[in-house]
Amino acid sequence: MYHFSAGHRLENPALDAEANARLYGPCFRPHGHNYYVEVTVAGVPDALTGMAVDLGQVDALVTERLLAHVDHRTLEEVALLRGVVSTGEGLARAFWDVLVPALDGRLVRVAVVETAKNRFEYHGETET
Ligand code: NI
Repeated sequence: MYHFSAGHRLENPALDAEANARLYGPCFRPHGHNYYVEVTVAGVPDALTGMAVDLGQVDALVTERLLAHVDHRTLEEVALLRGVVSTGEGLARAFWDVLVPALDGRLVRVAVVETAKNRFEYHGETET
């Protein structure tokens, strides 16, 4: 479980301030969260090491590709979240998109915990 702290506000740029305030209520006002991010990876254990994935490598990738960009930032100003309304579900999808190329087919699920009551999970689009 990874952690970062960040400020944000929910705002749909297509709507005016009054409509945003009505839609998002207090979340339209700037505020912050201590977010937790859970990254699930999968693989077949290596015959020699017994490890399916190198967790040190996963930690380094998550830190470098994701946490370094969002920790102690305002999410609306983060380049890799451009165009994303920073709801928990929006963040889970955006984080998935950031991590999926880095983790080379081993990423199974990304979960974002925004508050003790809110948890958002994304595991990619199901192919049809
Ligand atoms: Ni919020």
